[in-house]
Amino acid sequence: MRAPLIAGNWKMYKIINEAVQLANGIKRELLDFMKAEVVICPPFTNLSAVYEVIMETNIKLGAQDLFWEKEGAFTGAISAIMLKDCGCEYGIIGHSERRKYFGESDEAVNKKVKSAQEVGLTPIMCVGETQQERQADKTIEVVTRQLTAGLEGLESEDTANLVIAYEPVWAIGTGITASPSQAEEVHKFIRSWIEDKFSNPAAANIRILYGGSVKPENIRELMQQPDIDGALVGGASLKSSSFVNIVKNAVIE
Ligand code: 13P
Repeated sequence: MRAPLIAGNWKMYKIINEAVQLANGIKRELLDFMKAEVVICPPFTNLSAVYEVIMETNIKLGAQDLFWEKEGAFTGAISAIMLKDCGCEYGIIGHSERRKYFGESDEAVNKKVKSAQEVGLTPIMCVGETQQERQADKTIEVVTRQLTAGLEGLESEDTANLVIAYEPVWAIGTGITASPSQAEEVHKFIRSWIEDKFSNPAAANIRILYGGSVKPENIRELMQQPDIDGALVGGASLKSSSFVNIVKNAVIE
């Protein structure tokens, strides 16, 4: 049984004060909430301050990116071990905004995934097609390429420490959510790809999140799909009320 996982990607929002306030708001509502795993991913500058707020709760901390080297002369970069040191348990890797604005390649994503796993940080590896690619009927081709390159060199047991997020680029920040069946089609494909490449238990256990305009109003029908295990939430994770409602509505009993 896969536990639902809801992760908030705060992107480049919130200075320390605001981040602490938001984390406190989430903590107030979800302190004793055990029915879903909750992760918040603030900007690097807020990680330590947010960790102070959530450290003795079930809410977990994640980062939005990392560099694959452990240390060295890499100005501006942050390594997986540094993120662990700040209290992070997760790291978003290969978000489409990183691919688009920072030229992140599938090969870079692969190195980041491996470096995160090496120190026990769980990668949330993002895949997803652009609108143009979907219109050209290339969704499966693009996702296959991203999975193949991003997970190159991993073994079946490595998937125990891995989360995949399917985020169609055309649904991010646009208010257009993929319909539950559109999302399910790709999630199902990803799970079958994991089974072919790794193993049946790997496919049965890996969590695949959906991301793209997730709101309290649409999370439930997404979660009702058999291969959607949670969400990576952008805009709606920036207000405690909407994020908390997404978490609560994600649990189907
Ligand atoms: P929105 O929820 O704002 O569409 O963002 C999704 C996303 O990119 C999460 O990583």
